[in-house]
Amino acid sequence: IEQRVLADPHAPPVVPYLFPFFGSMITFGLDPIKFFRENQARYGDCYTFLVFGRRMTMCLGPDGNNFFFNAKLSHVSAEEAYKTLTVPVFGKGVVYDVHNSVLMEQKRFMKNSLTNDSLRAYVPMIEEETSQYIQRWEGKTGTIEVVQSMAELVTLTAARTLFGAEIRAQLDERVADLYHDLDNGFTPINFLFENLPLESYRRRDAAHIELKAIYMDILSKREDLGNENRVDIISHLMNCTYKNGEALSHSEIASIMIALLMAGQHTSSATTAWALMFLAERPQLADELREEQIRELGGLDVPLSFEVLKRLPHLDNLVTEVLRLRPPIIEIIRKVVKPVEYPGGQYVIPTGHYLMSSPAVTQTDPNIYRDPQRFNPARWFADAKKESAASIGTAADEVDYGFGVLRTTSARSPYLPFGAGRHRCIGEPFAYLQIKTILATLVRDFDFKLTSRGMPAPDYTKMFILPQTPAEVIYTRREAKA
Ligand code: HEM
Repeated sequence: IEQRVLADPHAPPVVPYLFPFFGSMITFGLDPIKFFRENQARYGDCYTFLVFGRRMTMCLGPDGNNFFFNAKLSHVSAEEAYKTLTVPVFGKGVVYDVHNSVLMEQKRFMKNSLTNDSLRAYVPMIEEETSQYIQRWEGKTGTIEVVQSMAELVTLTAARTLFGAEIRAQLDERVADLYHDLDNGFTPINFLFENLPLESYRRRDAAHIELKAIYMDILSKREDLGNENRVDIISHLMNCTYKNGEALSHSEIASIMIALLMAGQHTSSATTAWALMFLAERPQLADELREEQIRELGGLDVPLSFEVLKRLPHLDNLVTEVLRLRPPIIEIIRKVVKPVEYPGGQYVIPTGHYLMSSPAVTQTDPNIYRDPQRFNPARWFADAKKESAASIGTAADEVDYGFGVLRTTSARSPYLPFGAGRHRCIGEPFAYLQIKTILATLVRDFDFKLTSRGMPAPDYTKMFILPQTPAEVIYTRREAKA
């Protein structure tokens, strides 16, 4: 009966469900990728399912990706989908609280702050933070919980590089608690309900106010004392001006800094955590990374640098493969604000539906990737890339074999861990640099192997897809570095 109520001859097919409010919540929630794939086999790339009373319409496959990421602003909106979650955390006047044209300018400011000179300066900082952090791993051998350790390490390295010395200095104290409270307010529940009378919502709002005040204080001190010799994002944003001649306000800068933290922290730490789990599962991959460093750099004690990282394709491919098989973001969402026709003309998706893209589905599609569930970094060597680009009709010259980044410009690409189109990630170069520097440093000092718990499954209850905890590895300190 319910389905008939929804019936609209032009709307996409609906996945059957028993209870209207919950819809497909259970099958979807248990393993979203399996759910997406099974229903794709039944209904094709475009279908609707219900969850918590919302109509979610999937756009799958290369054509679905392209439709989703290049949809017209007049019909499809990111801010309408994300504002409930993000505005209380980031604050007003930025990102999804402004017209898309303003976001585009703000993104240009963020992107331009990650210059090659800044990235060059970041590598030694990340290496040093990592070396200091791993001194906590005592003795010759021991066990660490990877999700927590990598979250700490990624926060330390991001604070040291992007967020400014002042934030790094306060990280061991108040700022870490504030980050934690903001995180607890950035969950799937917060996506569904802007405000609930819960302690986590109260703490989220209090943390936003306090962290913003900390940034405002940093900004006014820097305005008085000068901003010289700094390579962090704050220093860059302080010099940015909109096209209409207005400078970014301190309030906007503070909110952008919080937005960058939320966008970059979990994505990078999930990727680093999965990478370390795969290295522990297959220790020969870590051997390869060490051999590559010895071959290219002459030893394991040569300081890492921006230039050195470019000469480590095995490391690069490892990160690319982690992002294929375990992308941290598996659901990207928009809201339909005007009925929109799905390519092929078969369906018109009504206003009020949420569109959902899951590049994770194409990234593990057996018709596109050979043996897709196998973690195989070697598939990204140039020849293999060309072959796979050709097999899916992507021009091989759209693939940049340069520094660490697989920049497919086409939203039709089956490999989109950073999204595509106007909302595409601006943090990719930084993320690669950070993750590679951390991993290169870790394998110099340690061997890793899994505990008897083995390889953890993905935890689909979180906003970002981390390994289920405890995700443990055993580290063994290596005797000599060469
Ligand atoms: C957007 C993934 C790291 C900042 C995105 C999107 C994805 C993504 C899938 C598109 C979202 C959408 O279309 O709705 C990732 C992954 C990362 C990563 C997998 C690490 C491995 C970072 C970092 C930063 C960052 C380190 C900042 C320093 C942003 C920003 C956007 C974005 C500002 C734009 C959002 C928009 O335009 O709506 N990212 N990201 N990301 N990311 Fe990242």
